[in-house]
Amino acid sequence: MDYSQKIAERLWNLPDKGELESRREETYIDDIVQKSHIEKELLAHLDGVRTVFDGGAGCGRFSILLARQGCAVTHFDISQSMIDKARALAAEAGVLDRITFVKGALEDLRGFKDRSFDLVMSFDAPISYTYPNQERVISELVRIGRKRLMLSVSSRLGSLPYAANPIQKNQFILDESSGDAFVRWCVENRTKSIESFHFDKATAMRWWTEGVMGGEGEIAEYERGGAPWCITYAFMPDELEGMLRRHGVRDIHLAGPGAFARTLPNELLVKIMNDPEQRAEFLDFCHLYDANPFVCGMGKDNLFALGEL
Ligand SMILES: C[S@@+](CC[C@H](N)C(=O)[O-])C[C@H]1O[C@@H](n2cnc3c(N)ncnc32)[C@H](O)[C@@H]1O
Repeated sequence: MDYSQKIAERLWNLPDKGELESRREETYIDDIVQKSHIEKELLAHLDGVRTVFDGGAGCGRFSILLARQGCAVTHFDISQSMIDKARALAAEAGVLDRITFVKGALEDLRGFKDRSFDLVMSFDAPISYTYPNQERVISELVRIGRKRLMLSVSSRLGSLPYAANPIQKNQFILDESSGDAFVRWCVENRTKSIESFHFDKATAMRWWTEGVMGGEGEIAEYERGGAPWCITYAFMPDELEGMLRRHGVRDIHLAGPGAFARTLPNELLVKIMNDPEQRAEFLDFCHLYDANPFVCGMGKDNLFALGEL
C-alpha cells in the first residue's frame, strides 16, 4: 500500500475527525463559500439522477443533501469515524433508509460494476489524497458513473499563495473568540508566524512544478506513530480538464470556489456572514464569479469540475 493511503487512513480514522469536520462551517468562512458553491451546483444538476456514489463522503455534507432530495446514495469513505458521524447526522435528517454506508478506499473500486450510478461525486480533495494514484482513481470514478461526474480536488494555483502566507487561514476565521483549537492556534501564533516567516522560492518552485504537498516529513512522522496531514496532489486546471477528457468526460466546466472571497479582508467577510440577507446575496455572487473559468485556478483550496459521462 502506498504511504499516501496509509497516512490518509490513519489521519481520517482519528476518533474526533468526524465531529471536527462536521463543525467546519461554524468556524471557517472559506468552508461556507465552498459548501454553498457545491450545493448550488448539485441542486442545479439533478435531472435524471436517482442513484449517487459519493467517494470520500466524510460526515455527509453532500450525501445527506442528495438523500434529502430523494436520491439513493452510496456513502463511501476510508474512515469509520467519519462514517459514524455521517450515520448519526443522516438519522437526525431522517434519511437513513436512502443511504448505504461503505467503508473503503478510492484506490480500490473493483466492487462496483461499470455504469452503476447516475451521478458520481467526490468533494474536497479525497482524490488528491490518493497520490500517486489520482489519475487511476479518476478513471475508476468515470467507469462506475452513468450520467454525470462532479468533483473537487486540491488546486495548485489556489494553494500556492500559502507558500507566501503563513497566516492565510486567519482571513477566513468566522469568530476569533471560538474555542476551536485551530482557530486558537491561528490567533495566538499570528505575530510569531509573520516574524518567523521567510519566503523560499525553491519550495514554491517545487510545489509549482510537482504539485505534491508533503512527502518525506509526513512519512517519517507516520513511521514514528504520528498522524500527519495527508500527502496531497494539487492539480493545475488544464491538467484536470485534460485528464477528465482523456477518460471520456464531456462538457466539462471548471470552477474555483473561494476565488472572490479571498479578495476581501477578514473584517468584511465576517460582517457579511453575520447578516443573513447580505450573506445569501454574497454567496450567490460568489457562485457566479467563482464559476467563471478564468478564475477557476484561484479557488480557496479546491478546483471544482462538472462533466457529462
Ligand atoms: C476533507 S474530507 C471531505 C469530505 C466530504 N467529501 C465533504 O466534502 O464534506 C475528505 C474525506 O476523504 C476521505 N478519504 C481520504 N482519503 C480517502 C481514500 N483514499 N479513499 C476514500 N476516502 C478517503 C476522508 O476520510 C474524509 O472523509
